[in-house]
Amino acid sequence: MPKWLCLQKILHVRLTTCLSITLCLVAINQFFASYGYYNYRHLDQESLRHYLYTKRNPNLTTKSKSECRYNDILQSSKFIYNTKIPRKYDDFVPNGIINGSYSPQDCIPLFSVAILVTYRNRQSQLDIFIPYIHNFLRKQNIHYKIYIIEQQDEKQWNKGLLYNIGAKQAILDKFPCLILHDIDLLPLDDSNLYACLNQPRHMSASIDKFRFVLIYKTLVGGVLAITSDQYKELNGFSNKFQGWGGEDDDFAGRISNHNLEILRFPPHMSRYTMLQHKQEHKNKDRHRIMEENKHNSQNDGLNSVRYEMINIKNHRLFTLIGVRL
Ligand code: BGC
Repeated sequence: MPKWLCLQKILHVRLTTCLSITLCLVAINQFFASYGYYNYRHLDQESLRHYLYTKRNPNLTTKSKSECRYNDILQSSKFIYNTKIPRKYDDFVPNGIINGSYSPQDCIPLFSVAILVTYRNRQSQLDIFIPYIHNFLRKQNIHYKIYIIEQQDEKQWNKGLLYNIGAKQAILDKFPCLILHDIDLLPLDDSNLYACLNQPRHMSASIDKFRFVLIYKTLVGGVLAITSDQYKELNGFSNKFQGWGGEDDDFAGRISNHNLEILRFPPHMSRYTMLQHKQEHKNKDRHRIMEENKHNSQNDGLNSVRYEMINIKNHRLFTLIGVRL
């Protein structure tokens, strides 16, 4: 073969390889750039305090005279690496926690927050979540109480209904702010203050499982803070979503139908790690139910929950609400 033909062949192969590699890189880049928002619309870190919904539970008795301060927490840059999260808590010290509730002793908290966690068959996650979240929250100068709402039957999982049950109890206990919390999500930033804003707040906007991007703008699943008054105004969650998914998207619809806005902290304050578990089967009917449910929230929600209460039991680290649906 003449030399020039050989050279031409090598050049051709090199050129096609280079072209394919470039195309692959462009495709990968496009995939990551288009799937989610790295820098979603959020409040400025400096202006957050203007949006805080400061309200205490009237049942809280306070000994101290001065009010707690939150600036240092909101400005904190402490980030907990997810690899550093303990999987075992042999040395957990439950100081100050009674019936799942805690309040700082040396200052008067400005926020009282009910943390609502829906639950069934996730013992290993509960064992990690509970001590971790108490350690995290006790640094935040807030008054809080953790409710675990357990579906104690074999029927299809109904997260929306369980949230309604938990919200009813927390409202009865006079909590002005509700934080709806997935059990598999752990906050990583100390600055992520567990408090309500004057509009619903999607707290888990940056999850490691989703490469720390917000996967779509109306997502409110994961961790959401909402005032009890707003929750009542929206009539809570729909009770119609059975199985996995959709109830949070429907709730986002309720939020926008009531002209409320979803607010978020900046991404570097909203990071979470997700504990591993196998993906549940998605409810294939969720989009259809959502469509049928549009503008029908007044008959389906907090005012139409049907369930059998099994017990409400105070444990040291949480209050357990056991129900059958
Ligand atoms: C589901 C939501 C879920 C979201 C993120 C959606 O397809 O309908 O319920 O929160 O995916 O996993």
